[in-house]
Amino acid sequence: MSSQIILPRIMQIGADASLEISNVLASLGCQRPLIVTDKMMVELGYVAAITQRLTPQGIQSDIFDQTVPEPTVASIRDGVAMARAGNYDCIIALGGGSPIDSAKAISILALCGGEMKDYRFPRQVNEQGLPVIAVPTTAGTGSEVTRFTVITDESSDEKMLCVGLGFMPVAALVDYKLTLSLPPRITADTGIDALTHAIEAYVSKKASPYSDSQAISAMKLLAPNLRTSYHQGDDHQAREAMMLGATLAGIAFSNASVALVHGMSRPIGAFFHVPHGLSNAMLLPAVTAFSIPGAPARYADCACAMGIAAPKDTTQDANQKLLAELKALNQELAVPTPQQFGIKREEFFALTTTMAQQALASGSPANNPVEPSIDEMVAIYQGLWD
Ligand SMILES: [Fe+2]
Repeated sequence: MSSQIILPRIMQIGADASLEISNVLASLGCQRPLIVTDKMMVELGYVAAITQRLTPQGIQSDIFDQTVPEPTVASIRDGVAMARAGNYDCIIALGGGSPIDSAKAISILALCGGEMKDYRFPRQVNEQGLPVIAVPTTAGTGSEVTRFTVITDESSDEKMLCVGLGFMPVAALVDYKLTLSLPPRITADTGIDALTHAIEAYVSKKASPYSDSQAISAMKLLAPNLRTSYHQGDDHQAREAMMLGATLAGIAFSNASVALVHGMSRPIGAFFHVPHGLSNAMLLPAVTAFSIPGAPARYADCACAMGIAAPKDTTQDANQKLLAELKALNQELAVPTPQQFGIKREEFFALTTTMAQQALASGSPANNPVEPSIDEMVAIYQGLWD
C-alpha cells in the first residue's frame, strides 16, 4: 500500500525566513499579493516588515487585516470581496492559525465561487484558488503545511472542517523569530495543539511510515521545549524547536489526519468560544486514557519520543507515564477546566449530545484507535467538568 503525501512547493525554514518573502514570490512568479492578516500583526509591525521587503522589488500589495480568531463565514466575507475585486495573483497569509485558515478560505471562494458550506468535508476540495504563501506567527496549528481549513458557520455554531489540495499553501515561511513576543497563554495553547497533532497523527488509523517519521520528530522537538517556551518566551533555542516541531506536526497530521481530540474539540470551541488549542488541552488527557487500549504500543512510542519513558519500560508503564505527563503539563501550563474557563454548567451539559454528534460528523473520531460511540463521547465531555 502506498500513501499520497501533499506538501507546499517551497518551505523556507529558520531564523529570518519571513524576510525571504520577495525571493519566494519571485520563485513562484507572483507579483501582486493580497496580505491577509489581523490587526495585531499590523500593530506589532509584522505587516510592515513584509511590505518593506516587497516595495523595493516593485511589488505592490494590499492588506486585509479584518480576520478574527476562530474565523466565521461572516468574518471572511469582506476579504473574499476584496480578493475578487482586485487583480491579485497570490495571497500572503500572515499570523496564527486563524488568519492562515481565513486566507485559505478566501483563496478558494475568490476564484471558485460559492459559499463555504459548499466546500465542507466530506467533499474533497481539489480546485485551485489563489496561491497562498503562509507566514505563521505561532508555533501550533501547522496550518502553513496542511490541506485543511476550519471555518465556523455562525448560523449553526458549527466548525466546518474543509479538506483538500486546494487548501495547501504553495509556500510556507517558517520563522521562529516571529514567535518570540507571543504571550505565555498563546504559547501554551498553540504548543499543546501542536503536540496533539503529533500524537493524533501517530495513533491515527491513517498513519503511514512517512507521517510517523514526521510525528515522532515533532514530539522530540515539542515535548522538551513546551515548558521552556512558556516560562521563558525569549529563549531562542526553545522557540526554534517549537516552531519546527509545530510545522513537522502539521505535515504529519495533514497526511495522517487528526483523531478524537480534534473531533471533540471543535464543538467546544464553536459553542463556548474556547480557543482551539485550549479545548484540545482540556480533552487530551481524557481522550488519551480512552484511546490507549486501541493502540497501547503506539502510545508507548509517543511517551519515548517525548522523553518521558525509556525504551526498556513496559508498554503499560510507558502509557501510565504518558497520562501522568499530559496531566502535569496541563497543570503547569494552567489549562482551565470548562468550569474554570467560565462555561455555565447547565449549558455545557445540555449540549454534550449535540457536540458528540457534531464530532462524529466531522469524521475525525473514525481515525481514532478506539472508535467511540455517541454515549462514550458524551461521557468524556461530562468527565471534563470535574
Ligand atoms: Fe489543531
